[in-house]
Amino acid sequence: MIHSAKTNGWAFATLIAAMLGSGLAYVSGVDSAQLPPAATAPPQPNTEAEPIAPLPLMASLDNRKVELGRRLFHDTALSGDGSISCASCHNLASGGVDRLVRSRGIGGKEGAINAPSVFNSGFSFRQFWNGRVETLDEQVDGPLQHPAEMGATWPQVIAVLSKNQTYRAEFAAIYRDGIQPHNVRDALATFERSLVTPNSRFDRFLRGDRAALNEKELAGYRLFKRLGCASCHQGVNIGGNMYQKLGVMEDYFTARGNITETDLGRYSITRREEDRHVFKVPSLRNIALTMPYLHDGSATTLEDAVRVMARYQLGEKLDTDELEKIVAFLKTLTGEYRGKPLE
Ligand code: HEC
Ligand code: HEC
Repeated sequence: MIHSAKTNGWAFATLIAAMLGSGLAYVSGVDSAQLPPAATAPPQPNTEAEPIAPLPLMASLDNRKVELGRRLFHDTALSGDGSISCASCHNLASGGVDRLVRSRGIGGKEGAINAPSVFNSGFSFRQFWNGRVETLDEQVDGPLQHPAEMGATWPQVIAVLSKNQTYRAEFAAIYRDGIQPHNVRDALATFERSLVTPNSRFDRFLRGDRAALNEKELAGYRLFKRLGCASCHQGVNIGGNMYQKLGVMEDYFTARGNITETDLGRYSITRREEDRHVFKVPSLRNIALTMPYLHDGSATTLEDAVRVMARYQLGEKLDTDELEKIVAFLKTLTGEYRGKPLE
């Protein structure tokens, strides 16, 4: 397997087991080793045999924390100059992103990297493109203190929140020690864990509604598996469960030019040569809504992103028909938030 050096072994083992279990002839574009024919395999795939699992329909969370976290997420009091909230860059009405190539923080400062969605982020094994933190709680300090994002300090945020009567009452009702950084983190992270978008047409298909996808979309899903996209984008988040290099088959960065620190990926944390340009495989959920794409925001459309993936990750050149099918499939990954389809 060409990816194995950079791959979470568990994820691959699970995938292989699922493939063998289902008897699917699952041939990756980068790995020509053919699986045995399906003759003796059990009948048609069920949900467990697929490399992708549907999102859970319910999350059991403390509702008071969710609501407090929702207010904090939308409150500009969390930024140094009172101008920016988490929602400024993670707009829940536009897929949980800002749709900019690079985000803009306080004072209009431009950040260095494209903003990923906050929807379903709790299902990813690490946070940030380079996976530098593990939990949503730990993640909060990043944007809050980043000079080009919210540019705040904890003492300042705690002081501002403490002046607010409603916050004082709400924090006191939930947390014994009231308004504290770890409680702000906890409320925000609990709210983020509520940002689940179930019931996409593809999830309905996985749950057994075979009519949820049309023929073209289904052909797109088959291609997604056959080409090997699903060897990286898999699991409940269709991504978010392993690291991979951008540029497995061809050097993406030399072709693009102008390499910056954020292009180094995991290397900027580990300083290990094998981690250069290695990123967390992003989730493809709601992908039709989160343009532009890639960590550098260089792919304006979904078609652009898929072309880059086929070429640099799989060494494939897709024809128009294949490209259209895959994009049609990707558009079925848009889910619902609080019972309404995202747009
Ligand atoms: C100025 C724009 C901006 C603001 C404000 C902002 N973010 Fe982000 N957010 C980003 C960018 C850009 C990234 C990607 C950074 C990286 O990976 O290095 C990101 C990444 C994330 C991630 C990781 C998602 C993933 O898939 O890896 C989460 C979760 C998140 N932000 C939540 C928040 C929360 C909570 C707040 C408020 C406390 C917040 N963000 C404020 C721009 C912003
Ligand atoms: C070797 C692993 C691997 C394979 C195979 C792969 N991808 Fe990716 N994919 C990634 C990584 C890593 C990124 C993030 C790259 C970056 O911007 O740094 C990504 C990014 C993407 C994005 C952009 C996501 C976003 O939020 O910006 C899309 C869309 C995508 N892939 C679709 C596909 C499709 C379709 C295929 C098959 C044609 C595919 N990928 C094959 C690893 C892979």
